[in-house]
Amino acid sequence: MNQLSRPQAIPFIDVAAQRQRLGKSLDEAVARVLGHCQFINGPEVTALEDALAAFSGARHVVTCSSGTDALLMVLMAKGVGPGDAVLCPSFTFCATGEAVALTGATPVFVDVDAASFNIDSASLKRGIATARKLGLKPRAVIPVDLFGQSADHDAIEAVASEEGLFVLDDAAQGFGASYKGRRLGAFGFATATSFFPAKPLGCFGDGGAIFTDDDELAHTLRSIRVHGQGSDKYDNVRLGLTARLDTMQAAVLIEKLKIFEDEIAARNKAAERYASGLGNAVTVPRLAAGCTSVWAQYTIRLPRGTDRDGFAAALKVQGIPTAIYYPKSMHQQTAYRDFPVTEGGLPVSESLSSDVISLPMHAYLDEAVQDRIIAAVRGAVQA
Ligand SMILES: Cc1ncc(COP(=O)(O)O)c(C=O)c1O
Repeated sequence: MNQLSRPQAIPFIDVAAQRQRLGKSLDEAVARVLGHCQFINGPEVTALEDALAAFSGARHVVTCSSGTDALLMVLMAKGVGPGDAVLCPSFTFCATGEAVALTGATPVFVDVDAASFNIDSASLKRGIATARKLGLKPRAVIPVDLFGQSADHDAIEAVASEEGLFVLDDAAQGFGASYKGRRLGAFGFATATSFFPAKPLGCFGDGGAIFTDDDELAHTLRSIRVHGQGSDKYDNVRLGLTARLDTMQAAVLIEKLKIFEDEIAARNKAAERYASGLGNAVTVPRLAAGCTSVWAQYTIRLPRGTDRDGFAAALKVQGIPTAIYYPKSMHQQTAYRDFPVTEGGLPVSESLSSDVISLPMHAYLDEAVQDRIIAAVRGAVQA
């Protein structure tokens, strides 16, 4: 293939198309911050927190510096530490277990469901028993709304309340999705999300937020995000972090939130087109009953025996990028392999890590481009 016939490269996530759509409104939002110069704790931070509370239905929203810090701050606020166990899925982005380990507590990895990629409540129960056998005190569970689809929150809540655990939902990929008609942010004791630029609701840098109905938790989180400050600014009352969301990112997010509903609808339309175009060639993701997705990723499973690297290479020469989330589950990674896994092991996580692959997905995927991707996937699977 020569230079002239090389197909046009397709973006995996088209941040530029969104930037173009928002155009002047984003420029003006950033200019307003440059005008008032309150780069930390400017009025946009509170305005965003109010808008996110209205969007999610949560009583309190505390914005912060990243999704990882959002998880960490809740664990810190609850005094989770050495001797405690926090149950989390192994098939997730590393931040889920990392936040636990940073507190000195032990992440105990449990398996996920093969269809939804989300925590399997039977494995969760086994994991809690494993933690107790190891002499650890199970304190919390962190379900993840992986790839944008909400986890089975009723099933998780049932296990957690029976076992005396609090639920910290990791909605870094799923914010905007709903479960049984309620948006994420309204489940468990608290919900953490990320505004990393590639997320369905992303800013232009790092950012995150915590959602909770608990007044005391919200108060503690506001202290933790500023070094544990008390009512007297120079009398810090607990250990904390520098974990604020800066005003510029809040200003950007306010504008992006205005079009988020519309973008979620576009992502769902793209997911439906993928499902009808690919459903008989590969295993396409399916929504579990009562769950919606914001399709942070569109992740397919390749037929048994398919050479995944060869498949990715075949798409790449046609200008179609792919990504593997995640080639190693957490318990298979160097930093985490000494942490316990639930009795019965993690066979689903391990098999997903060996056969999943994600296709371009965003709200600006036009039909002609998507048809090109669908044809390429079908061709590569047949080959
Ligand atoms: C499931 C999950 N949890 C937590 C995080 C951490 O978010 P951040 O990158 O904003 O720290 C991510 C980010 O990719 C994620 O996907």
